[in-house]
Amino acid sequence: MKHSGPGFGKFILAVAIVSTVLSGSSVAQNARIKIDVDREIGEVDKNIYGNFVEHLGRCVYGGIYDPGNPLSDENGIRLDVLEAVKGLNVSLTRYPGGNFVSNYNWKDGVGPKDERPPRMELAWARLETNQFGTNEFMDYAKRMNTEPYFAVNLGTGTIKEAQEWVEYCNVKEGPYYAELRKKHGYPEPHNIKYWSLGNEMDGFWQMGHLNAEDYSKKAREAGKLMKLTDPDIKLIAAGASNFRPNNDPHEWNATVLSELRDVVDYIALHMYLGNHQDNYYNFVSAPLVLEERTKVVKGMIDREMEKADRGDRDPIYIAWDEYNIWYRWRAKETMTGTRALEERYNLEDALVIAGFLNAFVRNADIVKMANMAQLVNVIAPIFAEEDGVFLQTIYYPLQLFANNMFGTSLDVFVDCETYNTGHFQLGLAEQVAQIDDVPYLDVSVTYNNGEVVIGVINRHRDETITTDIISQEGLFDGEFEIFEVNGPDIKAENDFDQTKVKTVQKESVNIKKEDAFTYNFPPHSFTMLKGKIVE
Ligand code: AHR
Repeated sequence: MKHSGPGFGKFILAVAIVSTVLSGSSVAQNARIKIDVDREIGEVDKNIYGNFVEHLGRCVYGGIYDPGNPLSDENGIRLDVLEAVKGLNVSLTRYPGGNFVSNYNWKDGVGPKDERPPRMELAWARLETNQFGTNEFMDYAKRMNTEPYFAVNLGTGTIKEAQEWVEYCNVKEGPYYAELRKKHGYPEPHNIKYWSLGNEMDGFWQMGHLNAEDYSKKAREAGKLMKLTDPDIKLIAAGASNFRPNNDPHEWNATVLSELRDVVDYIALHMYLGNHQDNYYNFVSAPLVLEERTKVVKGMIDREMEKADRGDRDPIYIAWDEYNIWYRWRAKETMTGTRALEERYNLEDALVIAGFLNAFVRNADIVKMANMAQLVNVIAPIFAEEDGVFLQTIYYPLQLFANNMFGTSLDVFVDCETYNTGHFQLGLAEQVAQIDDVPYLDVSVTYNNGEVVIGVINRHRDETITTDIISQEGLFDGEFEIFEVNGPDIKAENDFDQTKVKTVQKESVNIKKEDAFTYNFPPHSFTMLKGKIVE
């Protein structure tokens, strides 16, 4: 282990000292976080706090939609689940898949329920009853106050079906599918702005999998028809799934970006991490790989934008439209059927989620969308059984970010000790990494009309890190609210009858126009501090 940065330990404080109670952990480090409100990265897009609802396991059926359950309303919506969903302030929700979408015909899921055909669902080996579809999802989206983001089927589906879905959803009146929506009881169009062109089309597991050139051709033509139907929609290209064995994800991204640079508005990337070797330090560093891939794809986008013909449209942005931890429920029997992917999360998983979110904020100039996969039961922050619901550990960091971290992302200077990981498996397949100089503190900061929000992971498993937080421009002033996600140990999990890992609001601190203060970040924690910087 070593620490980085010149002058470490020599910094002289002129500060108001703020201490937290050090609950039994040792304090062996000093660190600095320097905040300069002039060092702007970009605006945080609220759509980085998105989520995902797929027809998979019990995400829809037995999750958000559970007709006949006493906890559901007359429309079959589980009210306890909806309450938990609302706590996440979900800006944008992707629907209806995922791998599911590559065998989905949207027409099966609209119209009178007793006329909807049940289908074999081949991605996750279920019977799809089609009792929940486009209009039910749109009703739900309104209730959870989220923007819808639809994915079209470019696997078994045709470009015509994709066009017709846009017509059904977004055209006010006139053509057949717009009139059909009206007949189904929805006189006003749904006006769905975000549409992705297929899902993980680079994966051999994807029904209708294509190579990058063939995918780009199909996506271009589908996008053309969809845009002719509604010119205001935004299109998202399927980028690398990031878990093809022995595969360089950037080859796919390079082709897709080059072929679709004039057509799409985002490139979608996916990442699932796992603690395969049960090595805490390797695992909690892993979101740095997402950050590195973000920077590589940003470079590719920059190169393509030099050649692009996009008129006055924005450049292409990155959508991490599936991210999470998923490695326990990966066996054949836990990947299929009605109880698929019911991963249970612990504290180290929550720290990895905070790591993803810090990385999105730190790359706010290019990451303009992100979707945790998924919302309920299926690799999810909310877990429901027939008689109740509990919040998993990963709920808490997402809740803090989605309710607080907005404004301009700042490029902060962090000086703390670091460690090197071993060679480790990132997610599925042969994806491996080794990272040097992982800082024990992982930090992101936003600034919004005088309000500063500081998100800090202390990755150290055993030590509190005493940290001087310094403002380069302006003074910290007034009450700082402090929220901490932590638990008794890194393997602590929540369940229906115990919430071992959660957010605790710590005693707030009062600062009177100081350019620095000291905070003790406890081991294996995520802390959010929120206060003001004044002139
Ligand atoms: O989120 C679960 C699955 O992971 C999605 O269906 C797919 O896109 C990805 O492989």
